[in-house]
Order: sequence, then structure tokens, then C-alpha cells
Amino acid sequence: MNYTLITGATGGLGKAYVFELAKRGESLLLTGRSEEKLAALKEEVLNLYPDLSVLTYACRLDREKERADFYAFFDRICLSCAVLVAGADIQKPFQDYTEEKLLFQQRVNFEANVSLAKFCFEHKAEGFSLLAVSSVSGLYPMPYFALYSATKGALTSFFSAIHYEWRGKAKVTVVIPGAIPTRDDVKDNIKTQGIWGKLAVKSPEFVAKNSLKALKKNKMQYVPGFWNNVMRVGTAIIPLTWKMRFIERRWSKTTKDAFPL
Ligand SMILES: NC(=O)c1ccc[n+]([C@@H]2O[C@H](COP(=O)([O-])OP(=O)(O)OC[C@H]3O[C@@H](n4cnc5c(N)ncnc54)[C@H](OP(=O)(O)O)[C@@H]3O)[C@@H](O)[C@H]2O)c1
Repeated sequence: MNYTLITGATGGLGKAYVFELAKRGESLLLTGRSEEKLAALKEEVLNLYPDLSVLTYACRLDREKERADFYAFFDRICLSCAVLVAGADIQKPFQDYTEEKLLFQQRVNFEANVSLAKFCFEHKAEGFSLLAVSSVSGLYPMPYFALYSATKGALTSFFSAIHYEWRGKAKVTVVIPGAIPTRDDVKDNIKTQGIWGKLAVKSPEFVAKNSLKALKKNKMQYVPGFWNNVMRVGTAIIPLTWKMRFIERRWSKTTKDAFPL
């Protein structure tokens, strides 16, 4: 049996992928940090789709040792698809980070996804496809969201390159969403962005469904929503210093960190 791996399955966007793929009858391998959240999610899925095969595995993907244990445990798995969602959108002035948090955010957002891509390629079934979740925040440097922006920029760059390297071997798409109302603090954050936040919003279900369509077509990158595409193209002609001053003013007003270590 071939499985679809979903990382960050217990989060707001991850769950939308879980239910979209469950609806399609895919066998699922779900990961997240919390054993309890994964068990509850599995129960929810099986209540709706009792015949589905659902495996769960709790692990901290930012930790090399836990990733190695995960790889060893699923040594014989065959993957038809991988949806790499796990990420940490910690937002605060750079000097307020602890060393642990700095490493955590870099590792879960970038290092873990690069490592997982290799694992997935080595366990791919015929017709394998991989979707990586990045962010519009990675399109240019963002003061007060600097580390998140840098890791997502790196992720977009990496998987766009891999899209070409794996041509003929696997489909690879990077999804670059704007705002997705998932956790309560994210919803509050979107509200504080006013009209800019409203225009950029797309629901988790919209992002999941349409990014999977883009993956099926093997698009290199997919930006959900008309406004996010306008912003991506339109802002390319605005001088970087103007963009950074705008971002600095707006992003310095809020902080968020929903990721206790
Ligand atoms: N929400 C937005 O506005 C937005 C916009 C653009 C891009 N994105 C990206 O979309 C993805 C999902 O965002 P979301 O809003 O759904 O966030 P979320 O609800 O906080 O979900 C994050 C998921 O990642 C998991 N995770 C976090 N750190 C991990 C680690 N070290 N090891 C393993 N799993 C870990 C979480 O597990 P636990 O449940 O155990 O914490 C959770 O399942 C992220 O990559 C984010 O950067 C979000």
C-alpha cells in the first residue's frame, strides 16, 4: 500500500490537507509534535472515512535524532505523495529570540523539509509528487519577521530548483500562500493588518484544494488567490527600500510565538 505523508497534520492548514486527501481515499501517514493531537485527528478522520488506512507518528522534525528515528521506523514505506506543511511562524524582533528558538525556527522551516525531501525521494512510488508549503513572506526580506521570511525564501528557492532536478522522476510544487486564518493568534494578526490582511486571506480548505490541483499539473510554484498574485507581480517593480520601510512600520506592531519548546 502506498501512503501520502503529511507533516504538520495537526495544524490549521495541515488538517485541511488531511481531510481533502482523506476524501479522495488516500492512505495517510500523519505527523505532528503531539501524540494526543494526532490520536484525536486520526479518530476524527476514521469517523468520517472508516475504511481508510491512517498511520500517525509524533516527532519533532527540528531534531535530527527524532527525524532519524522516524526514517528508521518507516524504512519500508512507499510514498505516493508528500505534503510538507510543518512550519513555525514565530514573529518578533530578532534580538528577542533565544538561541534555542533561533535554531528551532530555522530547522523546522528549512532543514527538516530538505531532509524529508531526500527521505521521500528514496521511498517514492511510481508517480510520486511532493508539495512544499512556503509563504508570500518569503518573497522579500521582512523586518520584524526576518527569520521566518528568510527560511521561507530559502524553501521556495530550494523546491523550485528541485522541481527541475526531478523532472521526469517526480512532480514538485511549492505553494506560496498569503494569509490563512488558522490559529486564533494568526486570525488576530490578520485583523491588525486591516485591508491588506483581508485581501490576502484564503481559507485553509481553499489553499489545500487548489495547491493539490497545481501539484497535479506539476506547476513549479502556486500562489493562492488573485490578490496575492497581483501583489507578487505588482510589488516587483517597487524599490526594495520602500517595501522594507512599509513592512517595518506594520510588522513592528505585533509579535507572535505559538511554539513552546
Ligand atoms: N497561517 C498562515 O497565515 C500561513 C501563511 C503562509 C504560510 N503558512 C505556512 O503554512 C504552514 C502551516 O501553518 P498553520 O497556520 O497551519 O500553522 P499551525 O496551525 O501552527 O500548524 C503548524 C504545524 O506544524 C507542526 N510543527 C511545528 N513545529 C514542529 C516541529 N518542530 N516538528 C514537527 N512538527 C512541527 C505543528 O505541530 P503541533 O500541532 O504539535 O504544534 C502543527 O501541526 C506553516 O509552514 C506556515 O509557515 C501559514
